[in-house]
Amino acid sequence: MLKMIELPYPLNALEPYYSKETLELHYNILYKGYVDNTNNVQERLKLARDKNDFSNIKCLEKDLSFFGSGVILHELFFENMGPPIPTEPNMKLLQQIIKNFGSYEAFKQQFTEASKTVEASRMVYFGMG
Ligand SMILES: [Fe+2]
Repeated sequence: MLKMIELPYPLNALEPYYSKETLELHYNILYKGYVDNTNNVQERLKLARDKNDFSNIKCLEKDLSFFGSGVILHELFFENMGPPIPTEPNMKLLQQIIKNFGSYEAFKQQFTEASKTVEASRMVYFGMG
């Protein structure tokens, strides 16, 4: 049985980028729903296996995939976000960036432009609720 992970920071820790209300919605409502529904589907799958009744297997596995991915994507989000941290690289990293890109600004420009063109699965977008 899946359990919700603890949010590793207070609900208002991502402000001003994510309001307390927005994070609360995603954690307490949407994420909780994905966890509860994943557990529900897993129980229904166990019953199906116990009864050797796989007449509904397509629906069950589709639901497990949908709700399970919602759990994983929310946990990735929660664990990779956090309160603001210093955004400047340390001296060793800065020296390497300058060596590779010519300047910190050139690195940031290339990184920003590259991130605009990254192709991603729409599942990520929809999975985040
Ligand atoms: Fe969400």
